[in-house]
Amino acid sequence: MPDEPLVLGIETSCDETGVGIVRGHTLLADALASSVEQHARFGGVVPEVASRAHLEAIVPTMQRAFDDAGVTLADIDAIAVTSGPGLAGALLVGVAAAKGYALAAEKPLYGVNHLAAHVAVDTLEHGPLPEPAIAMLVSGGHSSLLLVDDLANGVTPLGATIDDAAGEAFDKVARLLGLGFPGGPVIDRRARAGDPAAIAFPRGLTASKDQAAHRFDFSFSGLKTAVARWVEARERDGEPVPVADVSASFQEAVCDVLTAKAIDACRANGVETLVIGGGVAANSRLRVLAEQRAEKHGIRVRVPRPALCTDNGAMVAALGSRLVAAGVAPSRLDLPADSAMSLTTVSVTE
Ligand code: KG4
Ligand code: ZN
Repeated sequence: MPDEPLVLGIETSCDETGVGIVRGHTLLADALASSVEQHARFGGVVPEVASRAHLEAIVPTMQRAFDDAGVTLADIDAIAVTSGPGLAGALLVGVAAAKGYALAAEKPLYGVNHLAAHVAVDTLEHGPLPEPAIAMLVSGGHSSLLLVDDLANGVTPLGATIDDAAGEAFDKVARLLGLGFPGGPVIDRRARAGDPAAIAFPRGLTASKDQAAHRFDFSFSGLKTAVARWVEARERDGEPVPVADVSASFQEAVCDVLTAKAIDACRANGVETLVIGGGVAANSRLRVLAEQRAEKHGIRVRVPRPALCTDNGAMVAALGSRLVAAGVAPSRLDLPADSAMSLTTVSVTE
Protein backbone atom coordinates (compact mmCIF):
# COMPACT_ATOMS: atom_id res chain seq x y z
CA MET A 1 0.00 0.00 0.00
CA PRO A 2 1.56 3.32 -1.01
CA ASP A 3 0.28 5.13 2.09
CA GLU A 4 2.14 2.83 4.47
CA PRO A 5 5.12 4.59 6.04
CA LEU A 6 8.54 4.26 4.42
CA VAL A 7 10.93 3.82 7.34
CA LEU A 8 14.71 3.67 7.49
CA GLY A 9 16.36 1.74 10.35
CA ILE A 10 19.96 2.01 11.54
CA GLU A 11 21.63 -0.61 13.78
CA THR A 12 25.14 -0.24 15.25
CA SER A 13 24.84 -1.66 18.78
CA CYS A 14 27.47 -4.38 18.43
CA ASP A 15 29.55 -5.60 15.47
CA GLU A 16 27.08 -5.28 12.58
CA THR A 17 26.47 -2.00 10.76
CA GLY A 18 22.93 -2.48 9.47
CA VAL A 19 20.67 -0.21 7.44
CA GLY A 20 17.20 -1.44 6.56
CA ILE A 21 14.33 0.15 4.67
CA VAL A 22 10.75 -1.06 5.01
CA ARG A 23 7.36 0.07 3.77
CA GLY A 24 4.81 -1.07 6.35
CA HIS A 25 5.64 -4.77 6.80
CA THR A 26 7.45 -5.05 3.48
CA LEU A 27 11.22 -5.30 3.49
CA LEU A 28 12.79 -3.22 0.70
CA ALA A 29 16.47 -3.23 1.71
CA ASP A 30 18.64 -4.85 4.37
CA ALA A 31 22.23 -3.67 3.88
CA LEU A 32 24.80 -5.06 6.29
CA ALA A 33 28.53 -4.59 6.93
CA SER A 34 30.04 -6.83 9.59
CA SER A 35 33.25 -6.39 11.54
CA VAL A 36 33.00 -9.94 12.94
CA GLU A 37 36.21 -11.09 11.24
CA GLN A 38 38.20 -8.29 12.87
CA HIS A 39 37.11 -9.58 16.29
CA ALA A 40 37.60 -13.28 15.65
CA ARG A 41 41.26 -13.39 16.67
CA PHE A 42 40.38 -11.80 20.04
CA GLY A 43 37.67 -14.41 20.71
CA GLY A 44 35.00 -11.75 21.25
CA VAL A 45 33.86 -8.30 20.15
CA VAL A 46 36.40 -5.54 20.88
CA PRO A 47 34.38 -2.33 21.44
CA GLU A 48 36.92 0.12 19.99
CA VAL A 49 37.38 -1.99 16.87
CA ALA A 50 33.59 -2.18 16.44
CA SER A 51 33.15 1.61 16.77
CA ARG A 52 35.81 2.33 14.18
CA ALA A 53 34.34 -0.22 11.78
CA HIS A 54 30.88 1.38 12.14
CA LEU A 55 32.37 4.80 11.35
CA GLU A 56 33.91 3.46 8.17
CA ALA A 57 30.86 1.46 7.11
CA ILE A 58 27.90 3.68 7.97
CA VAL A 59 27.81 5.98 4.91
CA PRO A 60 28.45 3.27 2.28
CA THR A 61 25.90 0.98 3.99
CA MET A 62 23.31 3.77 3.93
CA GLN A 63 23.99 4.29 0.24
CA ARG A 64 23.65 0.60 -0.49
CA ALA A 65 20.30 0.46 1.30
CA PHE A 66 18.95 3.42 -0.71
CA ASP A 67 20.20 1.82 -3.96
CA ASP A 68 18.71 -1.59 -3.10
CA ALA A 69 15.32 -0.09 -2.18
CA GLY A 70 15.33 2.32 -5.12
CA VAL A 71 14.46 5.29 -2.89
CA THR A 72 16.21 8.44 -1.70
CA LEU A 73 16.41 10.11 1.70
CA ALA A 74 13.74 12.57 0.57
CA ASP A 75 11.24 9.69 0.15
CA ILE A 76 11.70 8.41 3.73
CA ASP A 77 8.89 9.14 6.22
CA ALA A 78 10.79 8.37 9.44
CA ILE A 79 14.23 7.29 10.66
CA ALA A 80 14.61 4.73 13.48
CA VAL A 81 17.91 3.96 15.19
CA THR A 82 19.00 1.57 17.93
CA SER A 83 19.71 3.87 20.88
CA GLY A 84 20.36 0.99 23.32
CA PRO A 85 21.25 -1.38 24.83
CA GLY A 86 24.67 -2.17 23.41
CA LEU A 87 28.26 -0.96 23.27
CA ALA A 88 28.29 2.78 24.04
CA GLY A 89 30.81 3.81 21.38
CA ALA A 90 29.18 1.62 18.75
CA LEU A 91 25.67 2.94 19.51
CA LEU A 92 26.96 6.51 19.27
CA VAL A 93 27.94 6.08 15.63
CA GLY A 94 24.43 5.04 14.60
CA VAL A 95 22.70 7.60 16.79
CA ALA A 96 24.90 10.44 15.48
CA ALA A 97 24.34 9.36 11.89
CA ALA A 98 20.57 9.05 12.37
CA LYS A 99 20.43 12.53 13.91
CA GLY A 100 22.43 13.96 11.01
CA TYR A 101 20.12 12.45 8.40
CA ALA A 102 16.98 13.36 10.38
CA LEU A 103 18.09 16.96 10.84
CA ALA A 104 19.28 17.43 7.25
CA ALA A 105 16.13 15.99 5.69
CA GLU A 106 13.68 17.13 8.41
CA LYS A 107 12.45 13.63 9.20
CA PRO A 108 11.08 12.36 12.54
CA LEU A 109 13.64 10.36 14.54
CA TYR A 110 12.82 7.30 16.69
CA GLY A 111 15.40 6.02 19.17
CA VAL A 112 14.45 2.37 19.70
CA ASN A 113 15.34 -0.58 21.90
CA HIS A 114 17.49 -3.22 20.19
CA LEU A 115 15.66 -6.07 21.92
CA ALA A 116 12.18 -4.87 20.96
CA ALA A 117 13.52 -4.61 17.40
CA HIS A 118 14.49 -8.32 17.54
CA VAL A 119 10.79 -9.01 18.27
CA ALA A 120 9.45 -6.62 15.61
CA VAL A 121 11.53 -8.03 12.75
CA ASP A 122 9.35 -11.12 12.52
CA THR A 123 6.51 -8.98 11.10
CA LEU A 124 8.55 -8.57 7.91
CA GLU A 125 8.26 -12.28 7.31
CA HIS A 126 4.99 -13.31 8.95
CA GLY A 127 2.89 -10.13 9.00
CA PRO A 128 1.39 -8.36 12.04
CA LEU A 129 2.17 -10.03 15.37
CA PRO A 130 -0.92 -11.43 17.11
CA GLU A 131 -0.95 -9.91 20.60
CA PRO A 132 -0.68 -10.84 23.36
CA ALA A 133 2.35 -12.93 22.48
CA ILE A 134 5.27 -14.33 24.42
CA ALA A 135 8.64 -13.23 23.05
CA MET A 136 11.82 -15.13 23.79
CA LEU A 137 14.94 -13.10 23.05
CA VAL A 138 18.13 -15.07 22.88
CA SER A 139 21.25 -13.25 21.74
CA GLY A 140 24.90 -12.81 22.64
CA GLY A 141 24.06 -10.35 25.40
CA HIS A 142 20.51 -11.24 26.47
CA SER A 143 18.18 -14.13 27.21
CA SER A 144 14.71 -13.04 28.24
CA LEU A 145 11.08 -14.02 28.21
CA LEU A 146 8.62 -11.18 27.72
CA LEU A 147 4.89 -10.79 27.62
CA VAL A 148 4.03 -8.57 24.65
CA ASP A 149 0.59 -6.96 24.88
CA ASP A 150 1.34 -4.04 22.60
CA LEU A 151 4.87 -3.87 21.25
CA ALA A 152 4.58 -0.18 20.34
CA ASN A 153 3.94 0.82 23.93
CA GLY A 154 5.81 -1.57 26.17
CA VAL A 155 6.61 -5.13 27.14
CA THR A 156 6.43 -6.98 30.47
CA PRO A 157 9.56 -8.92 31.43
CA LEU A 158 8.76 -12.38 32.85
CA GLY A 159 12.30 -13.64 33.33
CA ALA A 160 15.88 -13.40 32.13
CA THR A 161 19.24 -15.06 32.51
CA ILE A 162 20.77 -14.76 35.95
CA ASP A 163 24.31 -15.24 34.57
CA ASP A 164 25.46 -15.92 30.98
CA ALA A 165 23.27 -15.21 27.97
CA ALA A 166 22.41 -18.17 25.71
CA GLY A 167 24.61 -16.87 22.86
CA GLU A 168 27.43 -16.20 25.30
CA ALA A 169 27.26 -19.86 26.38
CA PHE A 170 27.55 -20.95 22.73
CA ASP A 171 30.52 -18.60 22.25
CA LYS A 172 32.30 -19.78 25.43
CA VAL A 173 31.78 -23.48 24.73
CA ALA A 174 32.97 -23.00 21.14
CA ARG A 175 36.09 -21.32 22.47
CA LEU A 176 36.89 -24.18 24.83
CA LEU A 177 36.37 -26.65 21.99
CA GLY A 178 38.73 -24.55 19.81
CA LEU A 179 35.98 -23.80 17.28
CA GLY A 180 36.47 -20.02 16.94
CA PHE A 181 34.14 -17.03 17.22
CA PRO A 182 31.19 -16.56 17.01
CA GLY A 183 30.41 -19.95 18.46
CA GLY A 184 26.71 -20.42 17.71
CA PRO A 185 26.85 -21.10 13.97
CA VAL A 186 29.82 -23.50 14.23
CA ILE A 187 28.35 -25.48 17.16
CA ASP A 188 25.07 -25.67 15.24
CA ARG A 189 26.98 -27.14 12.28
CA ARG A 190 29.19 -29.54 14.24
CA ALA A 191 26.22 -30.77 16.30
CA ARG A 192 24.58 -32.18 13.18
CA ALA A 193 27.05 -35.09 13.18
CA GLY A 194 26.76 -35.66 16.94
CA ASP A 195 24.46 -37.44 19.38
CA PRO A 196 22.41 -35.01 21.51
CA ALA A 197 21.96 -37.74 24.13
CA ALA A 198 25.67 -38.68 24.31
CA ILE A 199 26.40 -36.63 27.44
CA ALA A 200 23.84 -35.65 30.10
CA PHE A 201 24.67 -31.97 30.67
CA PRO A 202 22.75 -30.02 33.36
CA ARG A 203 19.54 -28.05 32.66
CA GLY A 204 19.86 -24.86 34.74
CA LEU A 205 16.96 -23.62 36.92
CA THR A 206 14.62 -26.44 35.95
CA ALA A 207 14.48 -28.27 39.30
CA SER A 208 11.21 -28.08 41.21
CA LYS A 209 12.95 -26.01 43.91
CA ASP A 210 13.63 -23.31 41.26
CA GLN A 211 9.97 -23.01 40.25
CA ALA A 212 9.03 -20.43 42.86
CA ALA A 213 11.81 -17.89 42.38
CA HIS A 214 13.11 -18.67 38.87
CA ARG A 215 10.31 -20.24 36.85
CA PHE A 216 11.00 -18.04 33.80
CA ASP A 217 14.68 -17.29 34.44
CA PHE A 218 17.65 -18.96 32.78
CA SER A 219 21.13 -19.93 33.94
CA PHE A 220 23.79 -21.16 31.51
CA SER A 221 26.99 -20.69 33.48
CA GLY A 222 26.70 -24.09 35.26
CA LEU A 223 26.23 -25.77 31.88
CA LYS A 224 29.31 -24.06 30.47
CA THR A 225 31.35 -25.17 33.50
CA ALA A 226 30.02 -28.74 33.16
CA VAL A 227 31.14 -28.83 29.52
CA ALA A 228 34.57 -27.48 30.50
CA ARG A 229 34.99 -30.11 33.27
CA TRP A 230 33.89 -32.91 30.93
CA VAL A 231 36.37 -31.85 28.22
CA GLU A 232 39.19 -31.45 30.79
CA ALA A 233 38.56 -34.96 32.12
CA ARG A 234 38.80 -36.44 28.61
CA GLU A 235 42.03 -34.57 27.94
CA ARG A 236 43.47 -35.65 31.30
CA ASP A 237 42.77 -39.27 30.37
CA GLY A 238 44.54 -38.73 27.05
CA GLU A 239 41.33 -39.43 25.13
CA PRO A 240 40.22 -37.47 22.05
CA VAL A 241 37.38 -34.98 22.60
CA PRO A 242 34.32 -35.99 20.54
CA VAL A 243 33.53 -32.46 19.33
CA ALA A 244 30.33 -33.39 17.49
CA ASP A 245 28.85 -35.22 20.51
CA VAL A 246 29.85 -32.46 22.95
CA SER A 247 28.37 -29.82 20.59
CA ALA A 248 25.13 -31.76 20.12
CA SER A 249 24.70 -32.53 23.83
CA PHE A 250 25.47 -28.96 24.88
CA GLN A 251 23.13 -27.54 22.23
CA GLU A 252 20.40 -29.95 23.33
CA ALA A 253 20.71 -28.79 26.95
CA VAL A 254 20.35 -25.12 25.93
CA CYS A 255 17.46 -25.73 23.53
CA ASP A 256 15.65 -28.04 25.96
CA VAL A 257 15.61 -25.37 28.68
CA LEU A 258 14.78 -22.47 26.36
CA THR A 259 11.85 -24.19 24.69
CA ALA A 260 10.45 -25.72 27.90
CA LYS A 261 10.42 -22.32 29.64
CA ALA A 262 9.03 -20.48 26.61
CA ILE A 263 6.12 -22.92 26.28
CA ASP A 264 5.51 -22.78 30.04
CA ALA A 265 5.35 -18.96 29.80
CA CYS A 266 2.77 -19.20 27.00
CA ARG A 267 0.63 -21.64 28.95
CA ALA A 268 0.90 -19.73 32.23
CA ASN A 269 -0.30 -16.56 30.46
CA GLY A 270 -2.91 -18.18 28.21
CA VAL A 271 -0.99 -17.00 25.13
CA GLU A 272 -1.07 -18.83 21.79
CA THR A 273 1.77 -17.12 19.95
CA LEU A 274 5.47 -17.51 20.68
CA VAL A 275 7.91 -15.32 18.78
CA ILE A 276 11.63 -16.07 19.05
CA GLY A 277 14.28 -13.49 18.16
CA GLY A 278 17.98 -12.72 18.55
CA GLY A 279 21.03 -14.48 17.13
CA VAL A 280 20.42 -17.81 18.90
CA ALA A 281 16.99 -17.99 17.22
CA ALA A 282 19.00 -18.87 14.09
CA ASN A 283 19.87 -22.20 15.76
CA SER A 284 18.48 -25.09 13.74
CA ARG A 285 17.78 -27.36 16.73
CA LEU A 286 16.03 -24.57 18.69
CA ARG A 287 13.72 -23.94 15.75
CA VAL A 288 12.74 -27.60 15.38
CA LEU A 289 12.31 -28.29 19.10
CA ALA A 290 10.25 -25.13 19.67
CA GLU A 291 7.96 -26.08 16.81
CA GLN A 292 7.54 -29.68 18.07
CA ARG A 293 6.80 -28.71 21.64
CA ALA A 294 4.52 -25.79 20.78
CA GLU A 295 2.42 -27.88 18.45
CA LYS A 296 1.46 -30.22 21.29
CA HIS A 297 -0.12 -27.28 23.12
CA GLY A 298 -1.72 -25.51 20.17
CA ILE A 299 0.86 -22.72 20.30
CA ARG A 300 2.05 -21.05 17.07
CA VAL A 301 5.77 -20.40 16.84
CA ARG A 302 7.04 -17.50 14.77
CA VAL A 303 10.77 -17.35 14.08
CA PRO A 304 12.17 -15.15 11.33
CA ARG A 305 14.62 -16.60 8.82
CA PRO A 306 18.16 -16.91 10.24
CA ALA A 307 19.51 -13.79 8.48
CA LEU A 308 16.85 -11.68 10.21
CA CYS A 309 17.53 -13.28 13.63
CA THR A 310 21.07 -11.92 13.91
CA ASP A 311 21.60 -8.15 14.15
CA ASN A 312 20.50 -6.11 11.13
CA GLY A 313 18.99 -2.76 10.15
CA ALA A 314 15.69 -4.20 8.93
CA MET A 315 14.67 -5.07 12.50
CA VAL A 316 15.09 -1.45 13.55
CA ALA A 317 13.11 -0.24 10.54
CA ALA A 318 10.39 -2.82 11.33
CA LEU A 319 10.00 -1.51 14.88
CA GLY A 320 10.08 2.09 13.58
CA SER A 321 7.29 1.24 11.17
CA ARG A 322 5.20 -0.18 14.01
CA LEU A 323 5.77 2.97 16.11
CA VAL A 324 4.80 5.28 13.24
CA ALA A 325 1.66 3.23 12.56
CA ALA A 326 0.72 3.34 16.27
CA GLY A 327 1.15 7.12 16.41
CA VAL A 328 3.91 6.98 19.02
CA ALA A 329 5.73 10.29 19.51
CA PRO A 330 9.21 10.54 17.94
CA SER A 331 12.34 11.10 20.01
CA ARG A 332 14.03 14.46 20.49
CA LEU A 333 17.08 15.38 18.47
CA ASP A 334 19.22 15.30 21.62
CA LEU A 335 18.43 11.56 21.92
CA PRO A 336 21.24 9.88 23.91
CA ALA A 337 22.87 6.51 23.25
CA ASP A 338 21.93 4.44 26.30
CA SER A 339 24.15 1.38 26.61
CA ALA A 340 22.08 0.02 29.53
CA MET A 341 18.60 0.84 28.15
CA SER A 342 15.90 -0.99 30.09
CA LEU A 343 14.03 -3.78 28.37
CA THR A 344 10.75 -2.04 29.19
CA THR A 345 11.66 1.06 27.14
CA VAL A 346 10.58 0.26 23.58
CA SER A 347 11.32 3.73 22.21
CA VAL A 348 12.59 6.99 23.66
CA THR A 349 9.64 9.38 23.65
CA GLU A 350 11.06 12.39 25.49
O1 KG4 B 1 21.49 -10.99 18.17
P1 KG4 B 1 22.93 -11.15 17.83
O2 KG4 B 1 23.34 -11.15 16.38
O3 KG4 B 1 23.80 -10.07 18.55
C1 KG4 B 1 23.52 -9.66 19.87
O4 KG4 B 1 22.64 -8.76 20.02
O5 KG4 B 1 24.13 -10.27 20.77
O6 KG4 B 1 23.39 -12.53 18.53
C2 KG4 B 1 24.70 -13.00 18.43
C3 KG4 B 1 24.78 -14.33 19.17
C4 KG4 B 1 26.20 -14.90 19.28
O7 KG4 B 1 26.41 -15.29 20.62
C5 KG4 B 1 26.17 -16.10 18.34
O8 KG4 B 1 27.04 -17.15 18.75
C6 KG4 B 1 24.72 -16.53 18.44
O9 KG4 B 1 23.99 -15.31 18.49
N1 KG4 B 1 24.29 -17.32 17.27
C7 KG4 B 1 23.88 -18.59 17.36
C8 KG4 B 1 23.63 -19.03 16.02
N2 KG4 B 1 23.88 -17.98 15.19
C9 KG4 B 1 24.27 -16.93 15.97
N3 KG4 B 1 23.73 -19.40 18.42
C10 KG4 B 1 23.31 -20.66 18.20
N4 KG4 B 1 23.08 -21.17 16.96
C11 KG4 B 1 23.21 -20.40 15.85
N5 KG4 B 1 22.98 -20.90 14.63
ZN1 ZN C 1 20.95 -8.50 18.85
